[in-house]
Amino acid sequence: MTMTSQILIFCGQRPQASVGAVRLSRRRECLSQTPTNAGGLLFGTFRSATSGISGRGLQTSRDSGSSELYPQTAGGTAAKLKLFLSLIKRRTTITASVGGRLIKSVAVAGLAVLVLGVNTARAQTLNIYTGRHYPADQMLYDLFQSQTGITVNALEGKTGALLERLRLEGDESPADLFITVDAGNLWRARNLDLLAPVVSDVLDARIPPHLRSPENLWFGFATRSRIAFYNPRVLAAPPRRWSDLALPEYREQICARSSSNIYNLSLLASFIERDGEDAAARWAQGVVANFARPPAGGDTDQLRAAAEGICGVAIANHYYYARLLASESAADNDVAAALVPLWLGEEGDGVHANISGGALLRSAKNREEAVAFLEFLASDRAQEIFAEANNEYPVVAGVALSPVLDVLGLHRTEEVNVSVYGRNQALAQRIYDRAGWQ
Ligand SMILES: [Fe+2]
Repeated sequence: MTMTSQILIFCGQRPQASVGAVRLSRRRECLSQTPTNAGGLLFGTFRSATSGISGRGLQTSRDSGSSELYPQTAGGTAAKLKLFLSLIKRRTTITASVGGRLIKSVAVAGLAVLVLGVNTARAQTLNIYTGRHYPADQMLYDLFQSQTGITVNALEGKTGALLERLRLEGDESPADLFITVDAGNLWRARNLDLLAPVVSDVLDARIPPHLRSPENLWFGFATRSRIAFYNPRVLAAPPRRWSDLALPEYREQICARSSSNIYNLSLLASFIERDGEDAAARWAQGVVANFARPPAGGDTDQLRAAAEGICGVAIANHYYYARLLASESAADNDVAAALVPLWLGEEGDGVHANISGGALLRSAKNREEAVAFLEFLASDRAQEIFAEANNEYPVVAGVALSPVLDVLGLHRTEEVNVSVYGRNQALAQRIYDRAGWQ
């Protein structure tokens, strides 16, 4: 019979869950922003031990003040566990049970480690690193787990920190899937050689070709449109196309976030692809000349500024506006009510649309589970959840929109392969820098 060891590390005053009761997907995830903080330390310790016990898995939680480490190890032995435990920092409480027998407990100051041996076949598990942080994602994990019995461990973090972590972890990473927003981020993962191709008839059939990697390295599951919003109390004549934002008549009327933001990089990358570098540079220069204030804050901040009359036009992704529209806060509703969405590009090549996407990692140990999850994300119900819970547009034709998306309507989007947003990303940043877009 195969021996499976499970290791939980709890940070905090008391453990928040027992092995049998733990439902990883129920737990809100928080990834350390860098590999050097508490979460990274625990993870690093475990990685060092993997040569001995080849475990994998990590979950941290700021909500509960706990951190947990879950290796699904085949053939774990007391010797291997000793090796692992010897690498744990001194200020750690360790309780170990192998094959159902409790073997050790050590004093604890803030950390407790519980090692359990269970005589069962290897549980099906899926480990996700995700740069997304939406309630919709937890709904997706829960539904997938209930449909398949595959336990989902999802680790949230900022995309840049996750990519750096994956790079450092290399083949020893416990992660099977990488999920993030913006094709530009998926491009970065591809360039770090972190991704493995997936050949799937399901994904090929359901995801439009321009929303997935030409190399089958990543797949888009929802789209987000980057558009403009204008305040009719400030501007009598709204811009009709992106190029209008660079016209002198909109002097001191534009609000936008920083140029290093991936959404803005991808937006300009699409202009570079369509109009060429020179035209894109002229546009950036014209918009900078029309700024109402230096770039600061996120998309929602730009919307609020436009609603307040600080500027007449704000650049933002559609779902930030949808969020304000659907908010239970009357103040948020007022911001949305003050603005009118401008689906720039719809009369030309189409509205600029980026993706939320997922990719199989080269480090994946649970490949079948990972591909099953990617295919699940393309299912009708998962697509509805993207729309209902996060107001992103489904990529599968015919899937119902959320009530808010129904209000915003379906808009024709550009059909350039979104991989160009990554390919032109560095040039876009150089153009922004030359234009003085902070
Ligand atoms: Fe966003």
